[in-house]
Amino acid sequence: MTLTGLIGYPVAHSLSPRIHTYWAKKYAIETDYKLFTTPPHRVRQVVHRLKNKGAKGFNVTVPHKQAVMEFLDGVDDVARAIGAVNTVIRHNGKFIGTNTDAYGFITNLKQSLPNLASHVKNTVLLGAGGATRAAIVSLKEQGASITLTNRTEKTAAALANEFSIHYVNWESRHSILEQATLLVNTTSLGMKNNPELDLNIQYLNPSAAVHDIVYSPLKTTLLINAEKAGHPTVDGLGMLLYQAQRAFEHWHGVLPEVDDALRTHVLEGL
Ligand code: ATR
Repeated sequence: MTLTGLIGYPVAHSLSPRIHTYWAKKYAIETDYKLFTTPPHRVRQVVHRLKNKGAKGFNVTVPHKQAVMEFLDGVDDVARAIGAVNTVIRHNGKFIGTNTDAYGFITNLKQSLPNLASHVKNTVLLGAGGATRAAIVSLKEQGASITLTNRTEKTAAALANEFSIHYVNWESRHSILEQATLLVNTTSLGMKNNPELDLNIQYLNPSAAVHDIVYSPLKTTLLINAEKAGHPTVDGLGMLLYQAQRAFEHWHGVLPEVDDALRTHVLEGL
């Protein structure tokens, strides 16, 4: 029985065990995916313990995606580009950090929007957090032109500068909707127990697609309104499933299937 799992704070409600356990059973892989509730001052200790226990690797979630890097033996190019680690892989006894969020983000969009290339031409991104960074890296690989807006302008400006993209301040967010071919919410607004996203999509270009990375609830108010107005919409569950798919492949050497049965199984845990 090999060991994998998730470190974060909090992690108790994570859907990742549900996903990984489902695949382990399906592909007859003997692995235990455990949750490690890890307060910030214990990250070093938990990483050390996982190494000593022979773990194949582990996932990392909020708030440790950046902090974990200093306790690893190295990080790969994708983690470096995003500036965050969500997956750690044991390689020749060393713990190497990678990031499968960008893969998860873009694979979900590709599956849901057949003409992604035309949709990314004028992408409007809401937010400037960790998830936004993964979105920027993968969208840029698709040739996207990106305009960012975020409540805290300083963070938006820093990100725009780092990745050579445009930004406007949060108060001006409606002004960039008319040109948008794709609108992506990477903030936590609209998530269960969080405030709603205050955005009037009446201003949105009628042909724009709308993606919300929030998956709890699966249909956020943003997606409901967008659907009503006739926009193609993409929910956030796929990003969760595809980032897990890539992590599973890294650890176990099998690319597991993301299908409706898995979706249903995971939604039952929401
Ligand atoms: P993650 O790593 O999951 O992306 P995060 O780094 O906490 O999470 O980012 C959350 C995003 O939601 C940020 O862009 C945040 O904006 P700030 O940079 O201004 O904090 C955004 N956000 C959270 N609450 C918000 C609110 N009430 N109004 C507007 N934006 C909000």
